[in-house]
Amino acid sequence: MNILLTGGAGFIASHTIIELVNAGHDVVVVDNFVNSQPEALKRVGELIGRQVPYYAVDVRDKDALTKVFDENKFDAVIHFAGLKAVGESVAKPLEYYHNNMTGTFILMDVMREHGCKNIIFSSSATVYGDPAIIPITEECPKGQCTNPYGQTKSMLEQVMMDVQKADPEWNVVLLRYFNPIGAHPSGRIGENPNGIPNNLMPYITQVAVGKRKELGVFGNDYPTPDGTGVRDYIHVVDLAAGHVAALQAIQKKCGLAIYNLGTGHGYSVLDVVNAFIKVNGVDVPYVIKPRRAGDIATCYCNPAKAKAELGWEAKNGIEEMCRDSWNWQKNNPNGYEK
Ligand code: UFG
Repeated sequence: MNILLTGGAGFIASHTIIELVNAGHDVVVVDNFVNSQPEALKRVGELIGRQVPYYAVDVRDKDALTKVFDENKFDAVIHFAGLKAVGESVAKPLEYYHNNMTGTFILMDVMREHGCKNIIFSSSATVYGDPAIIPITEECPKGQCTNPYGQTKSMLEQVMMDVQKADPEWNVVLLRYFNPIGAHPSGRIGENPNGIPNNLMPYITQVAVGKRKELGVFGNDYPTPDGTGVRDYIHVVDLAAGHVAALQAIQKKCGLAIYNLGTGHGYSVLDVVNAFIKVNGVDVPYVIKPRRAGDIATCYCNPAKAKAELGWEAKNGIEEMCRDSWNWQKNNPNGYEK
């Protein structure tokens, strides 16, 4: 299939390009590069042995996006583009709502005008809020999101469901990601956060490489085995492969389909820190800090539906995730910057 990836230079998308091409698909990228670099696409091109065609286009620019669709015939779109920093979204709600909501409205409008009604959406476990059921199945009711970023994911899921209901020609696959970490085993591409990392693994790797003094562990008084927060970390290459699997649902004309993409295993903050130290033989000093506002104790999924319907399951464990995150960071201490 010929696939458009919006936000295609980002962390998850760049890994997904490789899996798509390895599975025989063709790809085109649009990205406004506000939180990503063309260098990522250059490196992906080296890994797949051909250049990745891309447009430096913001999906909110309807004229520019229309031109992309006029010049290409797409079978499906994987919609990664969006702002994603939880804390920043609380400080800049209008920017987040405008970027994520308007961008998606314009994208789906242009898709419809060009007769492309197949979309895979990067959603998030954040839509479950503080989950009512653990492990989380897709039947678990959506919960209250505590920040505008999470709201946009939840609201956009609803928008897509309504569009699909009104016009059953649409096939909509909502992929609810758990916590992607790791990197391509080549060490050439990986997560490249701007400034101080918000997420656990990039913070750990920056401490390990000497860019930050110590990790702050946000709370050790949660109702979890060691008191620190438990999450479902998933290797980004496995997550990328989940998108290739999701194309099967599109090909089978699924209408609406929702899948959790996680491993089904919960690891605490200290589990991750200790695994990282053990696998990589590097030190990660940490201090216990107060809880971070908006955090929940435990979040991991039951990934059985994706396995049963798509034949997809995560293959890598926490050791591979820690090894590949470190391999990326140590080979690229400044990310994609030269
Ligand atoms: N944590 C620390 N120290 C840090 C960073 C994180 O102790 O410096 C802890 C958090 O408190 C939490 C765990 O590590 O217990 C994971 O935190 P992350 O920020 O890495 O991930 P979250 O689970 O908070 O959020 C992630 C994504 C969101 C997404 C959410 C879905 O960042 O985009 O998963 O559940 F919405």
